Amino acid sequence: MCEQRTVISSGARYDKFCTISKQSMKNRPNWLRENWLRVIVHIGVWGPLLWLAWRTWNDDLGVDPVVTLNNVTGRTAMILLLLCLSATPLYILFGFRQGLTVRRALGLYAFMYAGLHFLNFIALDYMFDLQFILEDGVPQKPYIFVGLAALLILTALAVTSTRGWMKRLKRNWTRVHWLIYPTGVLIIFHFLWQAKAAEKFEPVIYAGVLTFLLLVRVPPIRKTLTQFRNRRAPSVKPTRASVIERRSLSLPTQPTE
Ligand code: HEM
Repeated sequence: MCEQRTVISSGARYDKFCTISKQSMKNRPNWLRENWLRVIVHIGVWGPLLWLAWRTWNDDLGVDPVVTLNNVTGRTAMILLLLCLSATPLYILFGFRQGLTVRRALGLYAFMYAGLHFLNFIALDYMFDLQFILEDGVPQKPYIFVGLAALLILTALAVTSTRGWMKRLKRNWTRVHWLIYPTGVLIIFHFLWQAKAAEKFEPVIYAGVLTFLLLVRVPPIRKTLTQFRNRRAPSVKPTRASVIERRSLSLPTQPTE
């Protein structure tokens, strides 16, 4: 088909197009090999939202739909943030580079679910009644301040996650994005604080996971783990993911999507 069209249009441009599309067809397995995690992440993150939409459609959100929406959105945001924070430890521990290419996407999706969580609180739970929030919500649920602080930082990180902001902030970009670690702590604290005494076990598990993810980054621990990993694994041919990773681990850190 390509040859026929080349004769009709007799255009060198079309020839070039055919060559490029043939090349990209040939490179497709390579593309998938390098981007499979991106594909999974970009499809998978919509799962909880679709699940909620399906349950809403079927009138199956439980006795208190607002609480269900609140729990699913809050928990998804927190899990996505922890996954985002796992990318570097997974590389340090196992040399798993693919994770670094989805770090930014995971952070942005965490922000999206955190926004929905907040929207559910303010719109469905309190019907935008600011006075009611101040009189009822704040005294009864002081942990919302911790959530609000986390959400404000996540907003700043999402806004400045673009290449344009990277260029504008230069080395300060890394400093600003370092705030992701205290944000993780705030979110776990928010989760722990709002849980009733009998429900503290789960937040404590998440707190343990976060502590581990943060400890792996402490320079002496990180250095030891990296040396251990390098001794076990021989060096491999650089791939696009490895180039991204090398760039993202050096200062200033780059957004990797
Ligand atoms: C202004 C911002 C926020 C407000 C007003 C808020 C509000 C709330 C409220 C009222 C609850 C308790 C729900 C209940 O009683 O069952 C809750 C739980 C929770 N929130 Fe937030 N939150 C905020 C920000 C965040 C952020 C940024 C995250 C995570 C990224 C988050 C994650 C969670 C989690 C994981 C729970 C526990 C859900 C569960 O029990 O399954 N929240 N939040």
